[in-house]
Amino acid sequence: MKITIIGTGYVGLVTGACLAELGNDVFCLDVDEAKIALLNSGGIPIHEPGLAEVVARNRAAGRIQFSTDVAASVAHGALQFIAVGTPPDEDGSADLQYVLAAARNIGQHMTGFKVIVDKSTVPVGTGERVQAALAEAIVASGSAATFSVVSNPEFLKEGAAVEDFMRPDRIVIGHDSDAAGLRARELMKKLYAPFNRNHERTYWMDVRSAEFTKYAANAMLATRISFMNELANLADRVGVDIEAVRHGIGSDPRIGHSFLYAGAGYGGSCFPKDVQALERTARSHDQDLLILRAVEAVNDNQKQVLGNKVIASFGEDLTGRHFAVWGLAFKPNTDDMREAPARVLLRQLLSRGATVAAYDPVAMAEARRVLELDLDADQFSRLRFGATPMDALLEADALIIVTEWKAFRSPDFDTVKARLKRPLVFDGRNLFEPEQMAEAGIEYHGIGRSVLTRR
Ligand SMILES: NC(=O)c1ccc[n+]([C@@H]2O[C@H](COP(=O)([O-])OP(=O)(O)OC[C@H]3O[C@@H](n4cnc5c(N)ncnc54)[C@H](O)[C@@H]3O)[C@@H](O)[C@H]2O)c1
Repeated sequence: MKITIIGTGYVGLVTGACLAELGNDVFCLDVDEAKIALLNSGGIPIHEPGLAEVVARNRAAGRIQFSTDVAASVAHGALQFIAVGTPPDEDGSADLQYVLAAARNIGQHMTGFKVIVDKSTVPVGTGERVQAALAEAIVASGSAATFSVVSNPEFLKEGAAVEDFMRPDRIVIGHDSDAAGLRARELMKKLYAPFNRNHERTYWMDVRSAEFTKYAANAMLATRISFMNELANLADRVGVDIEAVRHGIGSDPRIGHSFLYAGAGYGGSCFPKDVQALERTARSHDQDLLILRAVEAVNDNQKQVLGNKVIASFGEDLTGRHFAVWGLAFKPNTDDMREAPARVLLRQLLSRGATVAAYDPVAMAEARRVLELDLDADQFSRLRFGATPMDALLEADALIIVTEWKAFRSPDFDTVKARLKRPLVFDGRNLFEPEQMAEAGIEYHGIGRSVLTRR
């Protein structure tokens, strides 16, 4: 099938590459000329396991092209996927300017029948706004084109995006029930048929319910994380091991094991903004989402917990103190620094006069870019990036772990100890067992595990 993807970011590029891999003819559009030039020269703008290979294979086979040419992009696809960003507006609601601009571009150039597929995460009712923007642009262009707007939210996880797209748990599609909507449903069914061979994974619903489903999913996952983080902080006070509790409750099939890890708070481009946007939707309908307000407040607090543990050990004034930080990306296997907890920690340390040596396997270039904006010149000058994890440890007063990269899971603790000025580890991801650390002669502070540290 001929498919256009508007917005070649994390979601757009993965969607385009994976649909090309299935034999479709994909046209990826972006307004960012540098990004398109990079893709056309064989580069990949993001770190995502397996993505470079899929893109290269399909480019070579002529099944995927990258361009900034709007008219050509509209002419190409019978299906026009909108996968542009929906960042938070000043009041926390989703900023729809890119989605609506994409819709107007399609309306302006289209002829015949097109299906406009909204893949961006958008608030309930956006389908109707996209429809109105398209209709207005079509009238202005004087064409008699027809269309249907479909909602097809994306559930991929950064760091496992290709795998998630190729093996989805579910495909959610919202469509209208008029003739154009049913025609759109048939095209979507054909497009996703290869994913449904083993068993049916598609959930068909109306557009508004599909839009809401995406927010409900992210809000639930964020809630589980904040719930465990809040309990972990209490566990620290009352002498309980939160990891034992996690196993104890996760084994209940009604609860399950996923997303119950206490840690340094959630970040990334989705949970923070989607929780906020859903709260905002509720408020504009005179409802207060009390649970989600708490989820957000707990998370803001949790991003400071690691730094607060360091401050509790060393005092408010960290002048002359030097710390090693392992992990900068908001989660492993990505270089995405959006809302990363490491940004909060670094501000806590550097604003109190400390110096820091940080290491991340892939996110250091992106971290350098965002931290230069986050920090003032003096603070930024006290941050250096290590060449290796062990290099970052040299002469540090403590090691602080923020991201659970696999490369950090089994370090040589003798070397860790030898490199640190003092054998002290603050672990924001509970990577190690407190007993194991005690045996290694390392003072260890996890999240919700202080009972074991004290033993
Ligand atoms: N990143 C994720 O893990 C993820 C997962 C599920 C859903 N989502 C949702 O998908 C959407 C996209 O997220 P992302 O992380 O891929 O964003 P992104 O910022 O990585 O990519 C968006 C791209 O759209 C381009 N763009 C903006 N306006 C355009 C226009 N008018 N025409 C063409 N291109 C345009 C930008 O230049 C950018 O390259 C968001 O709504 C997000 O919430 C993201």
